[in-house]
Amino acid sequence: MKHTKSHAKVRKAIFPVGGLGTRFLPATKSMPKEMLPVVDKPLIHYAFEEARAAGIEQFIFVTGRNKHSIEDHFDHVYELQSRLSARDKKKELEQTSDWLPQAGNISFTRQQEPLGLGHAVWCARHLIGDEPFAVLLADDMVLSKKPCLKQMVGAYQKTGANILGVMDVPRAKTSSYGIVDIDAKARTGDARLVKAKGLVEKPSPDKAPSTLSIIGRYILQPEIFDILDKQKPGAGGEIQLTDAISGMTSKKGVYGYRFEGTRYDCGSLVGFVAANVAYALEREEITNVMIDEIEQVFKRSGHTLCK
Ligand code: G1P
Repeated sequence: MKHTKSHAKVRKAIFPVGGLGTRFLPATKSMPKEMLPVVDKPLIHYAFEEARAAGIEQFIFVTGRNKHSIEDHFDHVYELQSRLSARDKKKELEQTSDWLPQAGNISFTRQQEPLGLGHAVWCARHLIGDEPFAVLLADDMVLSKKPCLKQMVGAYQKTGANILGVMDVPRAKTSSYGIVDIDAKARTGDARLVKAKGLVEKPSPDKAPSTLSIIGRYILQPEIFDILDKQKPGAGGEIQLTDAISGMTSKKGVYGYRFEGTRYDCGSLVGFVAANVAYALEREEITNVMIDEIEQVFKRSGHTLCK
């Protein structure tokens, strides 16, 4: 593989947060699914932290109806802050606002109709302009030593291409994800990096070209917007990001990056609850009590951990 010295830095990230979250009703009746907490932070906050850890400076949210609480989350909350300050609650005060992006480094645009993920990304085209950018879906959480997007930025710096976070799923599940058609002949020189010759959105198991599925982490080249301009609806009648990226294989190239870490699919109930347990166990101050609690829950319920 050709090693070019430096590629344009990935400075901007898009967070598509327009989804309805119907799998989490009634919790999401009046609250965005991206604000559901895993332990004590909303899903969107984890995605934001991951982006920042990967060097992202500009945070772009593509919202929809009833998403105001996401905007409020990324703003000061003066009444609470002044009360906390009056009571000298330093730690709590830090948690409300120490992490806020600098004014002007956060933008919100609206996807007025739910036409698909490709359309949501396209809605942010003027905010991205002509530079590479990341897309993070808050539904997907990756628990890892090095943040997933940061790992992918490393792969982007080597290739200058489009990079997708990927992992193998059981064949029976291919119809829930974008699937990579692997270019088996291509040598990438990196065991984690796989070249794609195409991508298929949510193929049935018998039609899936592989079991390598795309998770909600992307580094994309701005040429994607020219493709999205003309992208026709695909799977589910929606304008699919996967289809547009597939159109880039012959241009700047598309690679899957087998990230290090464990992915939790928080778009599903089981994945979301599992993420809560896993992230709680990661919190040193509560790890031991959590283990005791989990053991007690199992005892009381009559279930056993080992089958
Ligand atoms: C979206 C993408 C899909 C990808 C998935 C990852 O699907 O369209 O290609 O595999 O995110 O979570 P969705 O989960 O929005 O149906």
